[in-house]
Amino acid sequence: MLFDLSGQVALVTGGANGIGKGIAKVLSQAGAKVVIGDVDEVNGQATAAEIGGAFQALDVTDQAQVQSVIDGIVKAHGALDILCSNTGIFPQARLADMTEADWDRMQGVNVKGMFFVVQAATRVMAQRGYGRVVITSSITGPVTGFPGWSHYGASKAAQLGFMRSVALECARQGITVNAVQPGNILTDGLKAQGEKYLDQQRAIIPTHTLGTPEDIGYAVCYLASREASFVTGQTIIIDGGQILPESPEALL
Ligand SMILES: NC(=O)c1ccc[n+]([C@@H]2O[C@H](COP(=O)([O-])OP(=O)(O)OC[C@H]3O[C@@H](n4cnc5c(N)ncnc54)[C@H](O)[C@@H]3O)[C@@H](O)[C@H]2O)c1
Repeated sequence: MLFDLSGQVALVTGGANGIGKGIAKVLSQAGAKVVIGDVDEVNGQATAAEIGGAFQALDVTDQAQVQSVIDGIVKAHGALDILCSNTGIFPQARLADMTEADWDRMQGVNVKGMFFVVQAATRVMAQRGYGRVVITSSITGPVTGFPGWSHYGASKAAQLGFMRSVALECARQGITVNAVQPGNILTDGLKAQGEKYLDQQRAIIPTHTLGTPEDIGYAVCYLASREASFVTGQTIIIDGGQILPESPEALL
């Protein structure tokens, strides 16, 4: 079977809800033992029970906790094969009103948190000479812009810059480092933007649909597989064609 993850151990940060939950589900269906690391204990426990995985309370902005969760996974399961660094927040703020605290919180969770988990995970992966890291970035920032999300877009573009250099540093250690760039995926986080936002987005996506968390999970599953060993420092855009149209006819 292609993309068989049997016997492999995966950590999905932000896996309690939304896209992370979709990733956790698909990796679990492919045979991986999935550990969900999230600040949301209630939904984290529920998702872990649903997919037959485990839950670890984890705030990715706490470096000591990141280290102890990853050490704990290696101790309990013998290895960490796959890291999905998926945690992300996206509160909106226009530049004119943005505070230093808004900026720091966004970069703290989305960029510094990613740095903490990827550093701790790749250190243990390097010891075994095998690993798969998949970062959840976005189209927003690296490809597109959205009013209110300049700090978010900056964080998502930063993730890709980080990913490319880390991919090079890990290239001879059997570790690949890639990213997925979701478009509009129907999660609670996206629903929180309101019905008007969701309708506007459907209208500008050629499929006229929003994606599902599992749509992202399937792409992550490929990048997390042994078969993707020669793919590193790359991204897959999963957006229903949202970034393609050059004319309104494409959206009729
Ligand atoms: N939903 C979309 O359309 C979309 C599009 C592009 C990219 N993304 C990216 O996908 C990722 C997941 O987004 P989502 O829509 O599923 O959001 P979500 O809000 O539904 O889920 C995010 C998860 O991260 C957890 N989390 C938040 N702060 C944390 C922290 N400090 N430590 C650990 N866990 C924490 C939350 O508890 C939650 O379970 C994010 O990185 C986001 O930027 C989402």
